[in-house]
Formats: sequence, C-alpha cells, structure tokens
Amino acid sequence: MNIELKEGINWVGYIDWTVRDFHGYKTESGSTYNSYMIEDEQNAVIDGVKAQYAEYQIKRMAARVGLESIKYIVCNHAEPDHSGSLPELMKVCPNAVMVCNAKCKDTLEKHFDTADWEWQIVDDGDSISLGKRTLTFLNTPMVHWPESMFSYVPEEKLLFSMDAFGQHFATAFRFDDEEPLDVILQEAKAYYANIVMLYGRPISQTLKKAAELEIEMIAPSHGVIWRSHIKEILEGYQKWVVCKPEPKVIVMYASMWGSTGKMAEAILEGIQEYEVEARFYSVDATHSTTIATEVLDCAAIAIGSPTLNNSLMPNMAGALCYLGGLRPTNKKGFAFGSYGWSKRGGASEVEDRMKEMKIELTQEPIRSQYVPTPELLEKCREAGRELGKYAEQYKH
Ligand code: FEO
Repeated sequence: MNIELKEGINWVGYIDWTVRDFHGYKTESGSTYNSYMIEDEQNAVIDGVKAQYAEYQIKRMAARVGLESIKYIVCNHAEPDHSGSLPELMKVCPNAVMVCNAKCKDTLEKHFDTADWEWQIVDDGDSISLGKRTLTFLNTPMVHWPESMFSYVPEEKLLFSMDAFGQHFATAFRFDDEEPLDVILQEAKAYYANIVMLYGRPISQTLKKAAELEIEMIAPSHGVIWRSHIKEILEGYQKWVVCKPEPKVIVMYASMWGSTGKMAEAILEGIQEYEVEARFYSVDATHSTTIATEVLDCAAIAIGSPTLNNSLMPNMAGALCYLGGLRPTNKKGFAFGSYGWSKRGGASEVEDRMKEMKIELTQEPIRSQYVPTPELLEKCREAGRELGKYAEQYKH
C-alpha cells in the first residue's frame, strides 16, 4: 500500500473496513480515519484516529520515527473519530505539544483528562516552522464543528482539510487516482449530504479561503487523498454548498395498507411524463442516508405518509427528523397521504416538516380518505406532472 503523500510526508491512519454506522449515517463502504506524519527537523503528526485504533496509529508512527522525536501533534478537529487516540499519543510521545486553536483546546478539555498536556494555541493565519517546511493554520468554523481548522504546508502546496472533501470509504488505496472517479465523487457527495449539508454557508466561506491557496494535494481526514482530481472535488463542493438543483424529482413515502403507496405511484407516473430523473423511495425499504444523498441535488420532492395515531408512520418520522436536521435548500414540493377518520398527522404533519425545511410548497397537501379514488389518483398524477415540469428546466 502506497502511503507516501510527498517525500517525508506519510499516512499513519487506520482503515475501518467494518464500520456501518456513523452517528446515523449508514456507512456501507466503511471509512478511514486519516492521520499524517510530517518528517522534518521537527516531526509533526496531523490528527488522531478513533480511540480503539490508537495502537495501530502509534505502530505506524513508530515505524517511521522514534516517538520521542515527535514535537507537534496537531488537532484540526475535536470530534472523537479524530481526537480519540490523542490521549494515548500524548502519553507515548513524551516531547510532543498539542497544537490547536483555543476553541479546540476547550473542546478537548471537555472530552479528555488533559492535565498533563503541553499546548501550543494557534489562531487563524498562524504558522509553525518544522524546519524545511511550515504548517499554517486556517480556522474553518462549522466544517464540521466550531473548532475545526485546516492545516496547510505551503512548501508542498498540501492542504490537510480534516472532514472537508472526505468520504466514508474504506479502500486499500490512499489516492483518488487509484479508485474510479465516479465512485469516490459519489462517496464524497454522500459524505457532504449526510455530515455537513446544513453548513453550506460556512463551507462556502471555507471554499473562498481555500481558493486563495496554491493546492497540489488535499488530504482529508476520511477516505482517499485528492491529488489528480482536485478540480472535480472542488467543483462538486461548489454545487453542493448551494444544493444546486438537477433535473431530478424524488417521491418519498411510507404506507400502511397501500393507499399512500398508490398515491405515490400516481405521482411518479406524472413525473415520468417529463425528461427528468425520478427517484422513488419507500422509507421502509431505503435508509435515510441514501435518501439524503439524493435530496441534496434534487429540484423537487413529494413526501407522503398516512395518519397513524394522529401522527406519522414511525419510519417517516425518523426520516424527516434526519433530513430536516440536514436542512436541504432550493427545493419545491408538496405533501400527500391517506387518512381514516382523523386529518391530524399524516399529510398535514408532513407539510409542517416540509415548511420547517423551507421547501417551497407547490400546493395544498393531497389527502385521500382510505383508498384513493381514480379522480384522486389523477390529482396525484397532475401534481407529479407539475414537479416534473418544474425540474425539467434544470436539464443541462
Ligand atoms: Fe470526521 Fe466531524 O469528524
């Protein structure tokens, strides 16, 4: 396995082949927790790994240099997938100081016993000389937590971008040109949608900062390192930060006895009269991770649930909680669903959630008392046509 980014700069992280859940994100492709070692007059390590994999990281570090020679351990982001091993690292590297910004120090102190740690607090634009190379720090708040920052090595045009540009993708290869581009871009899109979609605005500020840097390589904290397809990943982020609509419409629904399912099918039929990509998801069959990834760049969405106990079907409630937290923008759509004797819950509650998500509503919710009539199904078809027509304008 090639782990060398540049001469004297190596990957010392951990490949997590088996992780399948990352705080609700279904990580079917596993993940990696990337850490990097810069060997110079002063040796430095960038970021940790999950606590339970500390021994593997330390073994990789020790295979390169004597641990007593490590002067700096940089923490770009305090979330435990990158900070979990830091207490072990600080124990086994007796001469290391922890380099991070003030917010990160505060966050680390609230996670770990840091009483014995030496600190070097850095702020936006500060630099540390390692000898032949320099580490420069850029605060990137909310990408992904308030304390997040990038580390940049100007002499190598190398950016350590922490969560940004990452992918939950376990592979024996470390670089973007060693895996199919469509696969890694899709993984990067899924990562963006499910981890940081709600931070589009701060991420676009971060992209502006990154645009001022000369970059030959981007080394994120998860997944492959970008060295051959930097243009493609930056272009992807430019689209994703604004949830740029594609000619795509999603029907997402839950059904109890099939009535809301029939309505969903009719809406789909209407959409398919237009030249757009149609996606059809039962929340009982498809994980929210997949749905969130597709919602990121859809133009329109119809969401349906019957009334159950004056509320929603539980899987729909869960899916909307997940999706609502990620706050997709730039969508139009409507709610639909069947009911029996109570109009509370169901389509009305779906519509409330869509309003909270600031989805522009194209019409009142479509409701069917029990089984939908042919007339009601035609109404669904017509509503689907409207979404299809709207989305078609985004054809390239
Ligand atoms: Fe990969 Fe926000 O941690």
